[in-house]
Amino acid sequence: ERVVLAYSGGLDTSVAIPYLAEKMDAEVICVAVDLGQGGEDMEIIQKRAMDCGAAESVVVDAKEEFAADFCVPALQANALYMDRYPLVSSLSRPLIVKHLVTAAKQFGGTIVSHGCTGKGNDQVRFEAGLAALAPDLQVIAPARDFAWTRDKAIEYAEAKGLPIETSKKNPFSIDQNLWGRAVETGFLEDIWNGPTEEVYSYTADPAQPRPADEVVITFEQGVPVKLDGRELTAFEIVDELNKRAGAQGVGRIDMVEDRLVGIKSREVYEAPGAIALITAHMELENVTVERDLARFKRGVDQRWSELVYDGLWFSPLKTALDALIAEAQKHVTGDIRMTLHAGKATVAGRRSEQSLYDFSLATYDTGDTFDQSLAKGFVQLFSLPAKIAAARDAKKG
Ligand code: ARG
Ligand code: SIN
Repeated sequence: ERVVLAYSGGLDTSVAIPYLAEKMDAEVICVAVDLGQGGEDMEIIQKRAMDCGAAESVVVDAKEEFAADFCVPALQANALYMDRYPLVSSLSRPLIVKHLVTAAKQFGGTIVSHGCTGKGNDQVRFEAGLAALAPDLQVIAPARDFAWTRDKAIEYAEAKGLPIETSKKNPFSIDQNLWGRAVETGFLEDIWNGPTEEVYSYTADPAQPRPADEVVITFEQGVPVKLDGRELTAFEIVDELNKRAGAQGVGRIDMVEDRLVGIKSREVYEAPGAIALITAHMELENVTVERDLARFKRGVDQRWSELVYDGLWFSPLKTALDALIAEAQKHVTGDIRMTLHAGKATVAGRRSEQSLYDFSLATYDTGDTFDQSLAKGFVQLFSLPAKIAAARDAKKG
């Protein structure tokens, strides 16, 4: 039998290789998906899988696909779970699932495996994705289904002589990709403890003095297409903004969040490119999207974020909300000028052929074309229902 394992190169999935091979008497096919995770060498990861006893080890370069088909839709939805978390890990799982399914077909795998625990969101994202894309594949999550602890995993790795730094010193569980980086466990589990500088790697300390950076981001129908006038792919834009906004300490998030499995967990994120882009995109929508559509979309954006957080990327409601979001992007074309400095991405200027901002309607100076005489009757009728209700309630005393 053949097991296709979502391989990250970390402790749990490395231990899973000999463990699955033994326990299931199976060949293990490792699939590592390159999602633009900063500072991870995919060749080393590919080789490590073989050294741990994999029968095959493949690396899938999904950087552009992840940017275009997952990060861009999240940007168009201004996706921030609980108004703060840009869905970094939540976005990657459905794409990893897609490539696991492809590999299972290619290598004749009948079982799929991942390294998630039983108390997190990621198990749901993997398995809800598999249920939608390949319901016939069996799933095994060794860390969950065989009740591993971190100590047991390290012990096993040492006993088997696996070539991984069983760093008891690195107490963090880290998940990173192009859209950002998530850090949890260790001393962060005490929610009174603040994160220290070594928690971060995508961002510099925002409190350090440094000159500001300015960037112009060009969008076409809600897709970022240029930085400072240079035409780039979505991947290149997020990657460059990760560096430039990251150097200014933009996008650090420290929060307690509601997991789907019911617990609250402490998570520290850094997502410099995502936060800069979402800030810019929201402002371009403010300028180009009609009021009622914009108001309605805010609720859609929130629901979209919750669905994706909850692992329902492949689901009918998500597809329907995608259609509304796509319709709303039709006029989201133009430039946003931003200052990146001291941990903040601040919009400084907006420019768009599709702008609904009408200077002559908005101005308080001469040249005003807004007919203020119309306002008096409008305000009276607008407030009429509340006025009638207030009069009734006053009578009741
Ligand atoms: N809590 C975040 C989420 O559910 C991040 C999960 C990150 N995974 C990890 N192994 N650190 O999306
Ligand atoms: C895990 O528990 O496997 C990682 C965290 C999460 O899935 O939320």
